[in-house]
Order: sequence, then structure tokens, then C-alpha cells
Amino acid sequence: MSDIIYMDNHATTPIAPEVLAAMMPYLTTNFGNASSTHPFGVTAQDAVEKARHQVADLLGCSEKEIVFTSGATESDNLAVRGIAHACREKGNHIITSTAEHHAILDTCHALAADGFETTYLPVDKHGRVSPDDVEAAITPKTVLMSFMYANNEVGTINPIVDIAAVAAKHGVLFHSDAVQGIGQLPSDMEALGLDLASLTAHKIYGPKGIGALYVRRNTPKPPSLFYGGGQEGGVRPGTLNVAGIVGLGAACELSKNYMETGKSRVATLRNVLHEKLSIYLDNIHLNGHPEQRLPGNLNLCFAGVQSHAHLAGLKRVAVSTGSACDSESVKASHVLVAMGVPNELALTAVRFGLGRYNTAEEVDIVADEVIKVVNRLRALAPE
Ligand SMILES: Cc1ncc(COP(=O)(O)O)c(C=O)c1O
Repeated sequence: MSDIIYMDNHATTPIAPEVLAAMMPYLTTNFGNASSTHPFGVTAQDAVEKARHQVADLLGCSEKEIVFTSGATESDNLAVRGIAHACREKGNHIITSTAEHHAILDTCHALAADGFETTYLPVDKHGRVSPDDVEAAITPKTVLMSFMYANNEVGTINPIVDIAAVAAKHGVLFHSDAVQGIGQLPSDMEALGLDLASLTAHKIYGPKGIGALYVRRNTPKPPSLFYGGGQEGGVRPGTLNVAGIVGLGAACELSKNYMETGKSRVATLRNVLHEKLSIYLDNIHLNGHPEQRLPGNLNLCFAGVQSHAHLAGLKRVAVSTGSACDSESVKASHVLVAMGVPNELALTAVRFGLGRYNTAEEVDIVADEVIKVVNRLRALAPE
């Protein structure tokens, strides 16, 4: 795979060498169970608490506000299901948007089947939720709202601080699936005004299968999704994934250090790619907000070129159509549909996700290959 250029960093990222190095002792000699009281256990527990500190440091919060989970899908389920049930006496209404990740949408569908009321707000043509729409949707029964920080397909950044102000004004808890924003965008939970936030290590150059849920102090404790031991204050029972947690901690620390310089470098590369494609190809359309979007995101529709044929034609480039979780489906992306992109055009979308390790040379190679493939496919298409 060494000659394939990886440009799908919203799906997942490679593990940073520094993260792998931090994890290795906990996959080998320091294999103890963090709940054990002997020295193996104490060593593991110390590593877990160091990692909790690293995560809390990136989020500007207290270590007590971090619950380790298996990733963002679990964190999203725990937050939305947990808070819905914890606040059931107060109300049964949850607000989210049509452009959320399926970890949120499907959790809300399941809650609706259990008798909860759910409102799915529309997004604008750039994929943003309007704080005014949020305010208008609140009822006396609303207990929770969940809106993603940045969209995993089109990279659009939601006006989180403004939405948080609405939530606080009405005393409604605010959860964000912050997976794509944390580590790339301002990540201080207090400044963002979030009550709960989901994150996952594999989007920030850490390992897969480990994540966390931020639960602000004084927020009702979400009841555990399953039964077992008392780990993580009983919110998330199960033997701790020590090596994964160490990897998440190291990835958070690295992201914090890399954030400012990394962001502008990646955005510059992304802009160069967009410019090159725009010069040599006509009829391409940017999806997502022109400014308020993730630095590495470039989601484009190539009119007349079906995205699955496009991807099949790219021999040296790993990119994706729509969200990776949906890559087997030939349905138009629900995010593009929510943004009002016509179905036929939405089926031509390709997502480039540039990341920390992409280079200017790779951008040139990717641009050349995409231009060649798009021109070839357009030439083959019937008039
Ligand atoms: C916005 C968003 N939420 C949730 C997830 C799921 O995260 P995980 O793979 O850690 O379960 C992803 C990953 O695709 C994502 O991009």
C-alpha cells in the first residue's frame, strides 16, 4: 500500500509514531489490569490516570469529567440514550439535526420507538444548524439537544457556541458529537459551552476502539448501557483498555501541540488541491461551508461522474464517497440530501480528507490522477 496516497483522514487516521511508542509497553510488559491492586495493576492504573489528564488538558476540563469508552459510537449512545433516560421525569423531547452521524440518528430513532419525542432540524445549504431554529424547537418537555461540532462528510462547522447559549438560556442539556472537531478546532469544553461531548482516538492519530465521553460536572450521570463492574464510576463497566487509553491520551497531547501550525498547513494543502482541480476541471461543486469547515476537508461533486466509478478509477489515491460507514451503499449521502444537493449531483460526491502526514507532492499526484480519471469518465459518458 506504500504507493497509495492516503487522503481519507475523516474516516480514520494512521497512528502517530509517538502514540504507538507510548502504547507499546502496555501491550507488552505492562499488561496489568488497572483494577488490580498489585504492582502490575498500579502501573496500569497510573497510566490510565496520566492519559485521563492528557485528555482533560486538551478539553480544558477536570479529569473527573472524562469517561473512557470504546469510541464515539458508544459515547454518542451513552450520552443520548443515557441523558434521555436520566431526565425522563423532566421531559421526553430531544432535538438533533438531519445531518448528524448515524450514531446519533439511529440512537434517536431507537428512542422514538421507546416513546421519546424527537425533532430533526433541517440544515442550511452549507450543512449548518441555525441557533434560531434550535430555539424555536424547544418545548417545555425538551431535555437534550445533540448537534455535531463539525460534519464528517462536508466538514462544515456548526455554530456550537451560539447553540450552547440557546441551550443554557432554556436549561436544556447540550451534547455534541465532537469527533471531527476535537484536536483540530478549539477544544475547550467550557468555552464551547458543552455539557457532554463525544470523542474518539482514531480520528486524531490514535488507535481504533477507544474514545471518551466528556460529562460536565453537575450534569446528570448517564446510566450505563450495560451491566458489569464498577469501572469509570459505573458509567462504563468493563476492564479498561489500558493500551488504548494510553494511546488516546498521547494522541490528545500531540493534537494540542500540533493544532495551530497543523491546521494552517493542512488548510493550505487542501486549498491547493481545490484550486488545481478547479483550474483543470469544469462543473465541479464544493459541498459544505466555504469558510466554516475543517481544515483538511474537501468534498466535491464532479457533475456527470458517478462517485463509485470515480473511486474505482483512482489507482493511487484512497479517498471516499460520502461517509466511510456508508461506503457500500449507493444511496446519495443523507448529509448532501439534507443540504438540498440534487440527488443526481449528490451521487457524484467525493470526499478528500487531508491530514497531518499529507505533503504538497502528494497533492500534485492526487490532483493529476483525479483530473485524468474525471476527464476519461466524462469522455465515455453518453451526451
Ligand atoms: C462524526 C462521527 N461520529 C461518530 C463516529 C463513530 O466513531 P467510532 O468509529 O469511534 O465509533 C464517526 C466515525 O466515523 C464520526 O465521523
